[in-house]
Parts: sequence; C-alpha cells; structure tokens
Amino acid sequence: MQSLQSLHTFALPANCQKLVRITMSEQLHTVDFCQPFFILGEGSNCVFLNDFEGTVIQMANRGIDVKELDDYYLVHVAAGENWHQLVMKLLEMGIAGLENLALIPGTIGAAPVQNIGAYGVELADVFSHLVGFNIDEQTFETLDKSACQFGYRDSVFKQALQGRFVITEVVLKLPKQWQPVLEYGPLRDLQNTEVDAKQVAQRVMQIRRSKLPDPELCANAGSFFKNPVVSREVAKTLCERYQNMPTYPVDDEKVKLAAGWLIEQAGLKGHRIGGIRVYDKQALVLVNDEQGDGEELLAMITYIQKTVFDKFMVELIPEVRLIGCSGEFSKGVEHG
Ligand code: FAD
Ligand code: EPU
Repeated sequence: MQSLQSLHTFALPANCQKLVRITMSEQLHTVDFCQPFFILGEGSNCVFLNDFEGTVIQMANRGIDVKELDDYYLVHVAAGENWHQLVMKLLEMGIAGLENLALIPGTIGAAPVQNIGAYGVELADVFSHLVGFNIDEQTFETLDKSACQFGYRDSVFKQALQGRFVITEVVLKLPKQWQPVLEYGPLRDLQNTEVDAKQVAQRVMQIRRSKLPDPELCANAGSFFKNPVVSREVAKTLCERYQNMPTYPVDDEKVKLAAGWLIEQAGLKGHRIGGIRVYDKQALVLVNDEQGDGEELLAMITYIQKTVFDKFMVELIPEVRLIGCSGEFSKGVEHG
C-alpha cells in the first residue's frame, strides 16, 4: 500500500496498491499494463476519491533541450519536468511565448492532456509534436498537432487514447518574433505600454495569486468544472435575464459561459460540505481545507451541479479527473 494523499493537490486520504516512478521512458516496457493502472504527473488535475485498486505510474523523467533554428526555438522537454519551472527557465534564457501560462501547476507530460490554457493562450498555440508510449502496441510513437485533436480543455488523450498512451516528451515551437497576447480582461491595461515577456509573466502571476489558492497552503485542484459551452440561443435567453452575465464567443453557433459566475450567482460561494468548501475568492475552485473525504466531495459536486442547473438550466461538467477504486469515472459526475 502506498499513500496518495501527498501525490495529488486536493490531498484526499487515499492509497494505491503500488507506485511506479518512471525516470527513464524505456522503463515503460517493463510495466504490467494488464492490471488496473493510472498515469500520474503532479496530481494537480486529478482527485483520488478513495483507495485505487491498482498501480499508479508516476512520470518523473527529466531533461530539457533547446534547439535554435532560424525563426524559432524547438524546446524538447521530458514529461516529468515541472511546467512553471520550464516557463521561468525559458524566460531567463530570453525565450518568450509561455508567459501567459506562468504558474500553472503540474508536469509537461500532462499539459497536452487537457490542452492547458490561461489568459488567452493555450498549449496548442505553442505545440509542435510529442512522443509517447502506445500501450496497445508497446512502441514509442510521435504525434503531431493535428493527431492530438486539441480543443478547450480537451485532446485525443481524454478521448480515443485515454488510458492507452503515456506521453514521455513534449516539443514546443516558440517563434523568435515575439507577439504579446494581452486581450484577456485583466491583461488589457498592459496593451498601451512597452512590456517584455517577463513583465507579462509577473502580471499573470500577480493575478493568479490574488484569485487562486496555492495548493501548498490550501488543498485544491484549480477550476473544478469546465466553463460550459452553450448554443447562442441559450446564451441570448440567459443574457436577457441576467444582463451582467459574462459570455465568450466560441464560434458562430456556440458561446462559453463562466462557471464561476454561475456558481457565485447560485449563492454557493463559501458553501461548505464537511471538509470541502467553495473558495470565496473564486467560486470555480473547491478547496479541501478541513480534511474532507471523497464522499463529501461527491456530495459537493452533485449539490453544485443541481443548484446551478435548477437556476440556469446549464449543466456543469467537472474539469478535474475523478479517480475511484477501479479507475476514472467515465464522464465525471452527471447532475442528478
Ligand atoms: P495530473 O493531475 O497528475 O494528471 C492529469 C491527467 O493527465 C490525468 O488524467 C493523468 O492520467 C493524465 N496524465 C498525466 N501525465 C500524463 C502523461 N505523461 N501521459 C499521459 N497522461 C498523463 N489548468 C489549466 O489548463 N489552466 C490553468 O490556469 C490552471 N490553473 C490551475 C491552478 C491550480 C491552483 C491548480 C491546482 C490546477 C490548475 N490547472 C490549470 C490544472 C492543472 O494544473 C493542469 O491540468 C496540469 O496540466 C496538470 O498537470 P499534472 O502533472 O498535475 O497532471
Ligand atoms: N467570476 C465570478 N465569480 C467567481 C469567479 C469568476 O463572477 O467566483 C467571473 C469573473 O468575474 C469573470 C469570469 O467569471 O468575469 C471568468 O473568471 P476568470 O477570469 O477568473 O476565469 P475562469 O473562467 O473562472 C478560466 C480557467 C482557468 C484560467 C483562467 C484564466 C477554466 C475551467 N478555467 O477560469 O484555468 O486560469 O480562466 O484564463 O477554463 C484551471 O483550469 O484549473 C484554471 C484555473
């Protein structure tokens, strides 16, 4: 038995039968994938609800290699490297492009899984290709950007390749000609000033620290639900009723709503069930600040989904990956 409490940032009490740390990708050939298994990075986007009856495979391989070409850099990074440390290291080397994604917890290997994004940039914007282990074929393969099928908090690794592919290396493509991305609300006031990438990173970190709890100090897993994407008609009806409701156009037919706003307007900020609480500075974040357990968290998820659905007729789907005793819940928790 191995405790998982310190291996996921939501820090629920849970164990697994066996933990294997992968420090060299070739080790994957020796793993028994016939038993239940779960691939883990730094555990900042998954929650172990109770004991996992299988092997947890933690990606801990290291290495960063920067190749300079005429117009851009190709940055090869091993899956076990820490994302934020990479962002800072590249900025120190004078390589820009990841500054809007500063302070996102977790590993490089997990970044393509949900196509991490923040402040107007997502991984897909800076992605070249990746290498990983195809579990069915027992071979290493290279996948280009189109094969990864990136979407909003989505990729092929959450769909057809879920549980079938271990990402071992990610290659980023960062143009030398830097263009700051300052369209996201709180960054707009930088638009009229001369800024460099380090200053953008500083501003992003300042905003994030003011809204998001540090998992080292207060157990959490970031945004708990995805921002719901609805049809234009649904958004229009809601906007007529709630005139200050934030909306973000996705395409000609779809509009994204702000789940944090919906949860706050449903009166749930600060709501507590056992050890789990809706964070008061950002209602999209749940915190485990009083030693909660998996049952309390499930009760909280269902209560939030039901309350928001009853008020707005909008369904919230967890962004965080929920792991039960035999593996991941297939589609998160549907509202009751
Ligand atoms: P884990 O939680 O360990 O794993 C996440 C999923 O990826 C699991 O399903 C796992 O099986 C799979 N996985 C992990 N590694 C691999 C691999 N090598 N190969 C195949 N599958 C793998 N996310 C954002 O997008 N934007 C944000 O702004 C953001 N802010 C956050 C703020 C806080 C305070 C916290 C706690 C989280 C935040 N997140 C954010 C979520 C999280 O940081 C990202 O999803 C991150 O990429 C998770 O990395 P990890 O190594 O911790 O992954
Ligand atoms: N809002 C409220 N009340 C709240 C929270 C938010 O009214 O309690 C409103 C805000 O005022 C704003 C809107 O909702 O008008 C959006 O809020 P915010 O800018 O804080 O972003 P978010 O939609 O809550 C998303 C990502 C974050 C990412 C930020 C910045 C998702 C699920 N979450 O949050 O990612 O850092 O944008 O780009 O897309 C994560 O995935 O874990 C994560 C933290």
